[in-house]
Amino acid sequence: MSDRAKLLKSGQEFKFDKKSDEEFERLIKRYPEREAMVLPGLWLIQNQLGWVSQEAMEYLAEKIGTPVIKIYEVATFYTMYKLRPMGKYHISVCRTVSCHLRGRAAVFERLTSRLNIEPGQISEDGMFSIEEVECLGHCGTAPVIQINDEFHENMTPEKVDILLNEFKKKG
Ligand code: FES
Repeated sequence: MSDRAKLLKSGQEFKFDKKSDEEFERLIKRYPEREAMVLPGLWLIQNQLGWVSQEAMEYLAEKIGTPVIKIYEVATFYTMYKLRPMGKYHISVCRTVSCHLRGRAAVFERLTSRLNIEPGQISEDGMFSIEEVECLGHCGTAPVIQINDEFHENMTPEKVDILLNEFKKKG
């Protein structure tokens, strides 16, 4: 079984908070079928919890009225859904050819050494996690990293230092 196929339990019951629930109800009106809410529902979970736990998938399945296997199939197919806890700032580092040719190795090295973590790990303070991903779609400005929803282009080790300091200050 691959890592992505192993679902993790958070050990805590999941329920949408008020904001997520209102957004769910707003979005569901757009679709003729409730099952169309699987993808946006998973986003809502991830935005609220920071990742997608097994309990959250079970909650969404019940809310939509679909078997949990359908939620599971989607969540495990798309790598943008995080199936384990992440740092507050999750860093995705592109490892595809354009970024590779334009210095992603030095950027990755600076990130892992500054944060003292490897892909799949969370920094001791819970602030950062890191993973390597395929093309982020900004090849013209490689090397590229993504921190949560923001892209950072033309990265260098020096820019890594500046960014990490900014995010640490933000807390
Ligand atoms: Fe890195 Fe496309 S190869 S963004």
